[in-house]
Parts: sequence; structure tokens; C-alpha cells
Amino acid sequence: MAKDPVRVLVTGAAGQIGYALVPMIARGVMLGADQPVILHMLDIPPAAEALNGVKMELVDAAFPLLKGVVATTDAVEACTGVNVAVMVGGFPRKEGMERKDVMSKNVSIYKSQASALEKHAAPNCKVLVVANPANTNALILKEFAPSIPEKNITCLTRLDHNRALGQISERLSVQVSDVKNVIIWGNHSSSQYPDVNHATVSTPAGDKPVRELVADDAWYNELETLLNGEFISTVQQRGAAIIKARKLSSALSAASSACDHIRDWVLGTPEGTFVSMGVYSDGSYNVPAGLIYSFPVTCKNGEWSIVQGLPIDEFSRKKLDLTAEELSEEKALAYSCLA
Ligand SMILES: NC(=O)c1ccc[n+]([C@@H]2O[C@H](COP(=O)([O-])OP(=O)(O)OC[C@H]3O[C@@H](n4cnc5c(N)ncnc54)[C@H](O)[C@@H]3O)[C@@H](O)[C@H]2O)c1
Repeated sequence: MAKDPVRVLVTGAAGQIGYALVPMIARGVMLGADQPVILHMLDIPPAAEALNGVKMELVDAAFPLLKGVVATTDAVEACTGVNVAVMVGGFPRKEGMERKDVMSKNVSIYKSQASALEKHAAPNCKVLVVANPANTNALILKEFAPSIPEKNITCLTRLDHNRALGQISERLSVQVSDVKNVIIWGNHSSSQYPDVNHATVSTPAGDKPVRELVADDAWYNELETLLNGEFISTVQQRGAAIIKARKLSSALSAASSACDHIRDWVLGTPEGTFVSMGVYSDGSYNVPAGLIYSFPVTCKNGEWSIVQGLPIDEFSRKKLDLTAEELSEEKALAYSCLA
């Protein structure tokens, strides 16, 4: 029997990530090739015409799984009945703007969209925040939508996770699908800590640790000085490198990673594999509780769980703490913007 359609909200759907993301969802990349979807697309009035153009293209593409499209500038209409919400809409940092100004604009957007989601989304709606500052926008959404379970509010660090897999695959000339269990800890910003200490590559002789195969610690870090090596810096700075090359920020990789995040959350992670998700910290790994922080997680039956008990060396501890400090500062700044 055909499944009932799932309603998926994409905010900022007229933007460049939105344009890459909606066809992926309509093709079944996010929820599976047998899962019909109804797309809800929200943008702001200045983008209404462009949003309508995206809707026209969705119709023209005749996606068999796409059972309906709602394109609107009304947050209540957009949020009504949605089962999955991918929050891409936000205010970009413009020349001359202070960090606080960007934070202030986005925090007020996420505060008001939190209320619309809380009141109108389907029960148990799963929320993924993509728009930056992603962790802190997700935290504000959580704070202002107290009836949405905190387990249902996450932010995207899967792009950074996938970038780390990609760098290892290039360095070792192995298939990216043979690399697993990298971790992105912390903030989706350049303070994030991409960790390969638990990552492995599948080889004909079984799984081998990435660090053993690379056999070049300097590529990773300088233990004496605690400096980042090329791998960590490349992953941390990849977003800036894409902007330099494309004159636009990453869009297809962000959209694809957003699909990976939701797909694994809903359908589960493969046995023995973990992925990175920004989730509400419960104090695991001595990360302060009450931040949205990226952890290694596994997913089963539509629920994520933080992978416990991984050994954390001295270098990693320092990096986990540094990115947590940045998130605590962002949290304080966000609250000062709302005050
Ligand atoms: N977490 C990640 O890995 C990651 C990766 C790439 C980009 N991003 C972030 O994703 C966001 C979107 O990137 P983009 O390149 O698509 O930007 P974009 O500027 O092309 O699109 C953003 C869209 O959001 C819309 N918008 C603005 N305010 C809105 C509101 N209140 N409600 C609904 N829509 C609103 C804009 O009109 C625009 O269409 C940015 O914040 C970017 O920094 C995050």
C-alpha cells in the first residue's frame, strides 16, 4: 500500500540552498524512494515572485513522489501540519555588519518561527536548522518552542562531517563510502573540531584506523604546540574556500548534507556507523548542558543518541572546550539581542 505523504517545510526556499534542496526532497533523496512528500516552501515577501518560480519548476519537473506544493510568505500557512522542518531562511551577513547585528536579525527570525512551528506543526515534527549561526538559531528555536521536545530540534553539521570524509578519501585515494566515523564536535563555525581519532577505512583486510593509514600526524595536528594541521584547517575553512571559488556559499553540498541528516535521523544509521549532528547537550563528554553542540550520534527508530565512552585525548579535550566556549558566548550574545 502507498505511504501517506510526509509534509516537509523548507524556509528560505527561494534562496540558493533552497533551490538545490527542494528537488532532492521531491526525488526521495531525503525520505526514501517510496515516500511521497508535500513540500511547504516559505520565504519573505521580496522573494515571493522567485519562490513562485521555484514552485513552477517543481510542477514542470513532474516528480512522481511530489503530491503537493505550498509556496507562501505566511509562516503559519507554511508551518501547518509539517512533519519535518528544514530551516534554511535567514539574514545573511552583509558588508559592514557587526556579528551582533547579524545575530540580532536571525535570533528574532528564529524566535518568531519557533512560535509558528510550536503552534502549527504536526506533533513530533523533526526540526533541522541550517541557517547561520546554525547552533544558536536552533537553541533559540528550542527555547521559544518549549512544547516541541528538545530531542526534535537539531542543527546541521553533517556538511562539515561529509567534508571531513571527503578530505580523508582524497588523501588516501579511497572511496568516500569506505570512510566512516569521523566526528565534528561543537559549533558549525571555524571553531568546530573535526576529529579523526575514531575514523576507519574499510579495506579488504577489515576496518583500519585512518590515523594508521595516513601515518602522518602533522597532517592532523602538532601535539607539542597543540596547533591544527592541514586536515583540521581545511575542514574548518572549507566554507570560506567555496565562497572564494564560487563567489557564493556552498549550496549543493549543504542541501545534500541536509538530506543525509534527516534521512539518517528518520531511517537510522547503518550498524557500526556514527554521524555528526548538532543536538541539545545533556552534559556528555563534559560539554556544558544547554548548548546545541555537534556530537557523534547513532540513530534508530527516529531517535538520535550520543555515542558514549569514546576516549578523548588531551588535544581533543582542548578543542572540545574551545568550541563550547564559543557557543556559550554566542548564547549570551543571542540573549542580549533579545533583551
Ligand atoms: N549549516 C551549514 O552547514 C550551512 C551551510 C551553508 C550555508 N548555511 C547557511 O544557510 C543559510 C542559507 O544559505 P543560502 O546560500 O541559501 O542563502 P540565500 O541568501 O541564497 O537564501 C536565504 C533565503 O532565506 C530567505 N529569508 C530571509 N529571511 C527569511 C525569513 N524570515 N523567513 C523565511 N525566509 C527568509 C531569503 O529571502 C532567501 O531567499 C545561510 O544562513 C547560510 O549561512 C549553513
